[in-house]
Amino acid sequence: MEQVKSYLNFTFYNPTKIIFGAKTIPQLRNLIPKESKILMTYGGGSIKKNGVYDQVKEALKKHQFLEFSGISPNPKYEHSMKAVEICKKENIDFLLAVGGGSVIDATKFISIAAKYEYEDPWDMVSKSFFGDSKYEPKAAIPIGTVITLPATASEMNAGFVLSRESTKQKYDKTHTLLYPKFSILDPETTYTLPKNQTINGAVDTFIHIIEQYATTNRNTRIPDRIAEGLLDIIISETPKALENPKDYSARANLMWSSTMALNDLIARGVEEDWAIHAIGHEITAMTGADHAKTLAAILPGLWKYKKEQKKEKLAMMAERVYGKKEGTDDEKADFTIQKTIEFFNSIGMKTTLSSVGIGKENFNEISKRINNRFTILKAPPLGENADIYAKDIIKILELCN
Ligand code: NZQ
Ligand code: ZN
Repeated sequence: MEQVKSYLNFTFYNPTKIIFGAKTIPQLRNLIPKESKILMTYGGGSIKKNGVYDQVKEALKKHQFLEFSGISPNPKYEHSMKAVEICKKENIDFLLAVGGGSVIDATKFISIAAKYEYEDPWDMVSKSFFGDSKYEPKAAIPIGTVITLPATASEMNAGFVLSRESTKQKYDKTHTLLYPKFSILDPETTYTLPKNQTINGAVDTFIHIIEQYATTNRNTRIPDRIAEGLLDIIISETPKALENPKDYSARANLMWSSTMALNDLIARGVEEDWAIHAIGHEITAMTGADHAKTLAAILPGLWKYKKEQKKEKLAMMAERVYGKKEGTDDEKADFTIQKTIEFFNSIGMKTTLSSVGIGKENFNEISKRINNRFTILKAPPLGENADIYAKDIIKILELCN
């Protein structure tokens, strides 16, 4: 008798304290030890325009703090290293990241790079797959965050993604030292998001959920039902936030959804894919395209290529998220692919490779870059079954629009 699939064994650990709600930024003053010397990090200035910067400064008026600005979307190693120098020179002992996922990600790198004892901290990112403990972080400056863009869940996970300009590489790193000590989630800070960033955030969140949900059916009802609920919320709340940027309820639902989507909870006990992300990161490294846009361009091709393996979950999603009760599993899986493309397009997200600057002439380069992950980084093949090799990448790209 075939054994019924169930949960993979797991450990669940997430130590980040969440402070959620309107007007919670003043709580910063009690969250960071009074004697700390803080480096506050931020991006290109959105926090100065929307009043978040002033709220943080007011909350920390009795603390000692310096500032480091200019962290760009798809944050860069080269720029982050300037903050590493400041941390060492000024004996910084607390980092406060204020902004979107890019600001938090760069700050996470800074936190371990400032404590790295060898020559080049980039080795912790680019050589992490070697499994050589020399390249693992041993210590980190503690981090707190004030998140202003719901998308990455970097505010409640132990990962970051960093790009190196000189080599056009974009890699991710995960380590338990990287969980923020706390994160403040005030939905009002997201009122000023431009439409395209609200859309990016919703799509990134959606695809985080499906990278963990649309894999093998293992009868994991808890993560499955949470994932389906989160997908439903993204589909129903995103149009409301786009229509009325100050809809607190929509913004609050989107903010908490994005955190819940990638704080490890729905990953526990299930098989995870992440092929869409791996291919997307290579496209961003090549063309500079927004992270979420690359994911939306790859999802249709990946799902079409892997439909047989993912069929049960795609059919389950058709029933439970898109309400299709009739038909075969095959028809339901096709329905999910079609409805997801329609949802993305309906909120203004394109699902074509041309929208992220990729044409047929780039397919070999993308495949070669993925191959480098396997050979140079010694990373395993992609997908929940580790069966997507460089040759498969070309076929996936051919199935994208
Ligand atoms: O730089 P500022 O001026 O702050 O402007 C930002 C930026 O231009 C702006 N913005 C942020 N909050 C705003 C706002 N504008 C107005 N009002 C606000 N409240 O939005 C722009 C994009 O910000 P960014 O931080 O780049 O976006 P996001 O949060 O989507 O982060 C994307 C990065 O995260 C990585 C991606 O690869 C990409 O590099 N990811 C990180 C993950 C993680 N740490 O777990 C997982 C993800 O899959 C993802 O790969
Ligand atoms: Zn993502």
